[in-house]
Amino acid sequence: MAILSILRYPDPRLHTVAKPVAQVDERIQTLVKNMLETMYDAQGIGLAATQIDVHERVIVIDVSEERNEPLTLINPEIVWASEEKQLGEEGCLSVPGIYDGVERSTAVKVRALDENGQSRDIEAEGLLAICMQHEMDHLMGKVFVEYLSPLKRNRIKTKLLKQQKQAEKG
Ligand code: NI
Repeated sequence: MAILSILRYPDPRLHTVAKPVAQVDERIQTLVKNMLETMYDAQGIGLAATQIDVHERVIVIDVSEERNEPLTLINPEIVWASEEKQLGEEGCLSVPGIYDGVERSTAVKVRALDENGQSRDIEAEGLLAICMQHEMDHLMGKVFVEYLSPLKRNRIKTKLLKQQKQAEKG
């Protein structure tokens, strides 16, 4: 297993649209294992392959408190989303230290393959529903800060670029 490096906003690669996985084989299973290890290491609750610069439709999630309920979504599709929406505070491993409000459906039904290539439907609400929508946005090349006002987004961009420059200088 390996811990992979996570792309940081505003890296343009985060805007790549991911391709569907053709076959859930050993390569994908290794990818899933590495993504889970990377997510746990970074103390995140979700990670999309886009964030580690792999542009295939793969997501890992764990919203459990004990960090022992990993969920793998391959080629996920939203088959139903509630009309009812809710504003919740979100963060992202690709946008470190930034949290802001995003409006999402309070409940969704997602169809996806698991790590064995089995199709299943998952009905979710609350944090899991928000997390699934957030991660599926990543696969479409969308980062949560794009829901914020241009002014806020530019401030975030400037702040993160400055941090990245300082980190490079050491
Ligand atoms: Ni994210």
